[in-house]
Amino acid sequence: MTEPFDAPDVIATKRDRKRLSDEQIDWVVDAYTRDVVAPEQMSALAMAILLNGMDRDEIARWTDAMIASGERMDFSGLSRPTADKHSTGGVGDKITLPLAPLVAACGVAVPQLSGRGLGHTGGTLDKLESIPGWNASLSNEAMMAQLDDVGAVICAAGSGLAPADKKLYALRDVTGTVEAIPLIASSIMSKKIAEGTGALVLDAKVGSGAFMKSEADARELAETMVALGTDAGVTTVALLTDMSTPLGLTAGNAVEVAESVEVLAGGGPADVVELTLALAREMLAAAGKPDIDPAEALADGRAMDVWRRMIAAQGGDPDAALPQAKESHVVIAPTGGTLTRLDALGVGVAAWRLGAGRSRPGEQVQAGAGVVLNAKPGDTVSDGAALMTLHTDEPERFERALAALDGAYDIDAEPGSVPDGSASIVLDRIG
Ligand code: URA
Repeated sequence: MTEPFDAPDVIATKRDRKRLSDEQIDWVVDAYTRDVVAPEQMSALAMAILLNGMDRDEIARWTDAMIASGERMDFSGLSRPTADKHSTGGVGDKITLPLAPLVAACGVAVPQLSGRGLGHTGGTLDKLESIPGWNASLSNEAMMAQLDDVGAVICAAGSGLAPADKKLYALRDVTGTVEAIPLIASSIMSKKIAEGTGALVLDAKVGSGAFMKSEADARELAETMVALGTDAGVTTVALLTDMSTPLGLTAGNAVEVAESVEVLAGGGPADVVELTLALAREMLAAAGKPDIDPAEALADGRAMDVWRRMIAAQGGDPDAALPQAKESHVVIAPTGGTLTRLDALGVGVAAWRLGAGRSRPGEQVQAGAGVVLNAKPGDTVSDGAALMTLHTDEPERFERALAALDGAYDIDAEPGSVPDGSASIVLDRIG
């Protein structure tokens, strides 16, 4: 077949800061999916987009082209309304794990198509795969049946759903092209629109551990995604949430599953509980059930019941012991005082380097690798106390993980400059 464009011309258009035409966008996304555009060409284009941006119409067209690369699902036959949430990615962001069963326990079905780790941020599927037996891949029929029966599914997007994003996501992960608003917005929204959810709540993260470091960028990303969703007929809202310090006390795979189970059991760190409930309230409201209080379903064990059924339905054993890393290293507080800063990016990169994430496409992640924090900003630490513990199966990884933590925290011996521990993690709402 004769191709209507050449990849070098399309790359040069964006390199020269020009707008890509609708036809160029449709072609390059489709041709990349068909392996006609080579990965190195798409990497160059992704880098040109990262550096030179796209306008709203280009982003909308790119999103449509990614949706058109595959199938669209339809949940309208279910007896319950559907709502999904998607995070733009953070450190220790395990919220999907308690959130999906919680919202399902409140009568709204949650079809949660999740991804793997991207850069220094963890992936929900990588986390859940640390549960013995749990299977991320479901057929569309199995997903529908589980939604009908259990009310919640967390699984990998099938190969038929936005295949262009699947390829591009893996490519961006290893080519330094993750942090581009047009690419993040179109990646997330193509999957969510193709998935066919009725309502969508976006968790747009801001801060060092997020892809968007400034509130202005996170707001622009959130507004772009809300507009894409609304235009596609999906009730879409976004919360801007703080990602300057890790969420909860864990960053990794099995360690985050364990913390999520604590939340479902009625405990867990306050910030994880707060964000889980805030997102649950938004999902219930967006799905037409604004009067249901999700805190009750968390407290009375209904959310835990759905979790257990959800894990078992995908072959997992909710009672099995979670894998533990072979080696650990304790990071000691060099002085006593108040922990005034604990940088999310430093902790995320440390967890990644310990083996919780990947640095080559398709690499196996370590289930037990990660960081467990003993203190969060605002806590008092004593000189020589354990600040955090690093876990990995390969002790040669400690050195680079420790390097990522160099300068990642401040301990102030003088009382006074204590961060406000009561500040809400939710900074704003868009939509
Ligand atoms: N999550 C996605 O699905 N895609 C991105 O590009 C970033 C986060």
